[in-house]
Amino acid sequence: MTGRKMEEQIIELLRQRGDYVSGQELCGMLGVSRTAVWKHISILREEGYEITSVQNRGYCLMEEPDVTDAFHIQRYMETKWLGRQICYEKETGSTNTLAKRLGEQDAVDGTVVVAERQTAGKGRRGHAWFSPEGNCYFSVLLRPQLRTEQAASVTLVAALALAQTVTEVAGLDARIKWPNDVVVNGKKLCGILTESSIEPEFINYIVVGIGINVNQTEFSEELKDKATSIFLETGVKQDRAKALGCFLEKFEALYETFLEAGDLSGLRETYNSLLVNCGKEVRIVDREAERRLLAVGIDDSGRLIVEHENGEREAILSGEVSVRGLYGYV
Ligand code: BTN
Repeated sequence: MTGRKMEEQIIELLRQRGDYVSGQELCGMLGVSRTAVWKHISILREEGYEITSVQNRGYCLMEEPDVTDAFHIQRYMETKWLGRQICYEKETGSTNTLAKRLGEQDAVDGTVVVAERQTAGKGRRGHAWFSPEGNCYFSVLLRPQLRTEQAASVTLVAALALAQTVTEVAGLDARIKWPNDVVVNGKKLCGILTESSIEPEFINYIVVGIGINVNQTEFSEELKDKATSIFLETGVKQDRAKALGCFLEKFEALYETFLEAGDLSGLRETYNSLLVNCGKEVRIVDREAERRLLAVGIDDSGRLIVEHENGEREAILSGEVSVRGLYGYV
């Protein structure tokens, strides 16, 4: 057994017990000497695990470090194929860039790239995504057998899974701002940047990159009226690995529903029930003009249906326009 596997086993045993486990018992279960157990415990302590040791009682796990590596994420999820391969980096430029590199190689469908911080995080429309430690930054590599025009809907599936995740782990009323921002109390809490490698006839891969503001305590002057974090909304620090695991489980299920139908018909109703723009007047801003129309909901392809004053309806494609509420961001 490798050293890492041994450490994971020790943590698993201490977690399961939730109490003191004697050094002798650990030696017996792992088939190693007391000195070896002590060495692995020391490594774990250096990694941030708080493990107390008391004479005649043994070792007890008091607290785990807040890290989003495979070991911690997989503990919170039961997926069939998504996130079975997790590439973890303490720091990287952008998890999307790394996932695309893996996509060019032979990484499997459902590979996830996670980083504690990004030095060149990318947002939509060429913006940067500020990525300090304490939040979630990850990208999912997908290799769907879809027609190229179906690819855009994957982002909406991710937005739905994200909104449901934020509600489940933090108890917040998370909504979707079409097509794929997740908002809480009118402020943005998650962003999604999808990048794809698409040939004329087929999709080579899709990378869905997600940033969740989890434990961020403040935002810049420019962003503070538009952005928020789970911590700022609840006053409670969140377990990021749990949020990630929860997302991957939800996304796998929703994505399979989408793949089966080949469109969003099985998810449209749920998506629309969380759509913050639904039934509201929105400003549709494109290069030529700004129009004010009533948002009705998405159709099966993920287009936003808007209604003109005369009752005529129009379908708006994401990427073509920017949708804003009448009074600010949402
Ligand atoms: C947006 O502008 O709303 C999209 C933000 C997407 C940020 C995430 S963080 C993980 C992944 N890696 C990146 O460089 N960007 C995405």
